[in-house]
Parts: sequence; C-alpha cells; structure tokens
Amino acid sequence: MFHTLWLLYFITLGSASDYRHALKLSLLFYEAQRSGPLPASNRITWRSDSALNDHGHNNEDLTGGYYDASDFIKFSFTMAFTTTILSWGMLSFGHAYKQANQYQYGLDAVKWATDYFIKCHTSKYEFYGQVGDFSLDHAFWGRPEEMNMSRPAYKIDVEHPGSDLAGEVAAALAAASLLFENVNKSYSEELLRHSGELYDFATKYRGLYHDSIPGAKIYYESTGYGDELTWAAIWLYKKTKDVKYIEQAETFYTKFRIKDRPNEFFYNKKVAGIQLLLAEQTLRPEYISTIKSFCDYTIKEQVRTPKGLIFIDKSGTLSHAANVAFICLQVICQKKTFLDCYFFFQAGLTLNISQSTYVNFAKEQINYMLGSTGQSFVVGYGQNYPKQPHHSASSCPNLPEPCGWKQFTWKGPNPQILYGALVSGPDLNDHYEDVREEFLYNEVTLDYNAGFQSALAGLIYSENENKL
Ligand SMILES: *[C@@H]1O[C@H](CO)[C@@H](O)[C@H](O)[C@H]1NC(C)=O
Ligand SMILES: *[C@@H]1O[C@H](CO)[C@@H](O)[C@H](O)[C@H]1NC(C)=O
Ligand SMILES: *[C@@H]1O[C@H](CO)[C@@H](O)[C@H](O)[C@H]1NC(C)=O
Repeated sequence: MFHTLWLLYFITLGSASDYRHALKLSLLFYEAQRSGPLPASNRITWRSDSALNDHGHNNEDLTGGYYDASDFIKFSFTMAFTTTILSWGMLSFGHAYKQANQYQYGLDAVKWATDYFIKCHTSKYEFYGQVGDFSLDHAFWGRPEEMNMSRPAYKIDVEHPGSDLAGEVAAALAAASLLFENVNKSYSEELLRHSGELYDFATKYRGLYHDSIPGAKIYYESTGYGDELTWAAIWLYKKTKDVKYIEQAETFYTKFRIKDRPNEFFYNKKVAGIQLLLAEQTLRPEYISTIKSFCDYTIKEQVRTPKGLIFIDKSGTLSHAANVAFICLQVICQKKTFLDCYFFFQAGLTLNISQSTYVNFAKEQINYMLGSTGQSFVVGYGQNYPKQPHHSASSCPNLPEPCGWKQFTWKGPNPQILYGALVSGPDLNDHYEDVREEFLYNEVTLDYNAGFQSALAGLIYSENENKL
C-alpha cells in the first residue's frame, strides 16, 4: 500500500494541480510572515497582531510589512526584491493565479508590502530601510506576538543615502503600480508617485545603503547600486513608457558595465532580470542574446548536484535554482513572440512551448523542490517535507505553553506547520539535514520563496498553454 502510494505520488508530480497547490501554500507562507495588526481574514491560526509600536524617529507609524526570515527584522531591501519578483510573476503569469483561485491572495501579498513601503517613505528623500536591530532581535527566540526588545528604526536620507535600497523599492513600487493598474487606479497612481520619488532619491544621492544602515552589512551586504538603478529605471519604463527611463536604463547599463552574462539571479545580483526586461522592452538582439546565453549557460554548464539541482551557492541553494527557472520561463516568451507572456495571453494567441528546453529545465528544478528525489523542500507539501524549518514563530507550541530557546534546540517537528516555506536546501551532494539549528539547510526567508512562487505560476501557465 505504502509503495503504491509513493509510486502514484511520483507519477503525478509535475502536474499543473501540484503547482497550483504549491502556489497556494507559498502564499500562506507570506501570510505567516506578516507583521503589524492582522486583518480578520488572517488564515494563520497561530499568528496574531505583533510589533504594534514600530515607529520612525518622529513617531511615524511603521507598523505592517513582513518579517524577513526566522527573525523579526523588517528589512526593506529583501522585502522589496520579493515584492518586485512576486509582482512580476503576477504580471507575466496572472492567468495561472486566476486558474488556481489565488489572484486576490497574490494581490494581497504584494499590497501588504507596498502599504508598508508607503509608510516607510516619510518624505521625498527619506526612507526607513530597517526596523529592528539584528543583535537585539537575535537574542530572542519565540513568538513575534510576545517579543519585547526595543525595535529601533533605521533610515536613509540625503546625508546618508542608499541608492541600492531606494532603487530596489522604486522598482518594487513601479512593478506593483503596473499590477494594480486595472485593480485600483488611485492606488496604482500612488505607488507610481512614490516609485518616481524614490528613483530620484536613488539617482541624485548616491551611496550604498549598508554604509547608512551599518547593522545590515553582515546579513545583507549589497555589492553595488548600478544594478538597482538600472532595474528601477527599466521597471519605471515598463510601467510608464516614458522614454527618459529607458534612456537612463541603457545609460546605467553601459556605465556600470553590467552587460556580461551573469552567473545568478539573486536579491543583490539583478543583472539577469535587467537583461530580460531590456530584451522585452526594446526587442534589441543584443539583449535577447545575452539573456538567452544566461539560460543556455545555466542549463548546460552550471554546476549541478548528482541529482540534477543547479548549485550556485550553499545559502539559498533552492532559491537560486528557482530564480533562474523563473527568468528562463519568461525567456520562452521572448523567443517566441518578442512580447511578454501577459500581453501575449491577452492577445488570445497560443504558445507551443511544452517541449521547450527552458520549460523542461524549470520543471526539473521545481520538481526537485517539490520532492522528485523523495525529499520535499517545501514545508507542508508532499509526503516527506521539512519538519524543522529554522523559524522561530512556528517552532512555538500552542498557547498558553511558553516559547523560548528551549524550542530552538528541541529535536521534534515544529508544532505549527509553516505551510509553503521553501527551505535553503541541500548541499552540493544533495545532502540535506532537517534540523532547526542548521540554517544553511533549513533557513526560510521572504526572498527565497519569491522566485519559487513566480516560477510555479510560470509552470502552471505553460501547462495551460499546452492545452489550448
Ligand atoms: C521581556 O520578556 C522576557 C520573557 O520573555 C522577560 O523575562 C522580561 O522581563 C521582559 N522584559 C520587559 C522589559 O518586559
Ligand atoms: C484602493 O486602494 C486604496 C488604498 O489602499 C483603498 O483605500 C481604496 O479603498 C481602494 N479602492 C478600491 C476601489 O478598492
Ligand atoms: C508543438 O509541439 C509539438 C511537440 O513538440 C510538436 O509536435 C508540434 O509540431 C508543435 N507545433 C507547432 C505549431 O510548432
């Protein structure tokens, strides 16, 4: 009986319904990471209001947004990258969200971040990039509802700029503005206004945000701001079609010398995404061939584990693979039509991409995450999933049981199932340890799930196209 079930499971893995289920779960993960006052519609029974006193230096309300990972820092740089990627997935593959009945949840997930960014943008050239102090926060293990450490807020401004942070948030808000264009026009316009101001801030006052918010450096160092400036400009162009933005994007692209084929697509290395957007927006062969060479290189030459997972870095192994899968699922559209999927779908045309190398590559990588080797890496998905994600809140027992460091080292499964969280992943030899303390295997973060969720949408989309 057991064996038959397993067999059945493996045979069916990779169907659109698996991807739809995983997409639903991923959105639950984002819901579990919410900070601030939660709405009545909250679906996470073990979460409630938290961090209600988060505020800026002049007592500005900074409640809301998402907790970054296991900890309770609200970290705008990765939160913004996450927002851009989720918005992008919805823009390109919105139909997949609709098919899975997740479109509204997807919009809510994006809006939970963008509402917070609007609060953080306290004046034209002032933006709060972090709430919570890493060392104070990391001394605590428990429920966010019960934390009582002080939560200082850190900002960038004219004297302490951060072009990378302001640029990434500008990109996120432009992407979200496009997403909300036909949902809520006034909200879309508000997002665009903030995006434009933050872009001005990023370009006029240059600097690395971790010089202005030094506490961020050991966790989320940024290696340069050239890619964020270009990324912001191209997203603003995609939204507005104002030629000044595409001109600036191409100027930055040259000036910051980011034309070479990148090795990865990650929250602090956005070049592949830039090349893809430049290809989509300009249809110029040089961009199309660059992004195609990124995918071809990854598929044919990138380091792999013995079981076939792309291995770019031990930190966020699976997220790296999912991000490339997402990018290459979009290249398909470039190749076929020179228009983005969303537009293409709107035009009512059909794609014949089922046999494509890129779709197969994305499937193989995402199926690995969903359990094709017998181990699922998505909490609550499949038969054999991570039971001990490195995640403080879900490691706590039901109330009124107390929660603290005892739960960190406890050898049992997390009492609360953190549905949908993609863990960091295995090592170069497919070796994986489901141990809470081993964050290199079991860390979960906002940005890890973003490319994964958007790649799932891409796969659902491609399966649909195949049936049309
Ligand atoms: C914070 O909470 C801990 C237990 O979680 C408690 O021991 C401590 O006294 C609290 N501190 C304050 C300032 O409330
Ligand atoms: C549009 O968004 C704004 C800002 O969140 C909100 O106050 C308003 O109710 C929304 N309008 C509609 C029609 O949903
Ligand atoms: C679509 O793909 C299938 C499978 O590879 C192939 O047999 C068929 O000829 C393709 N159709 C077109 C129009 O390219």
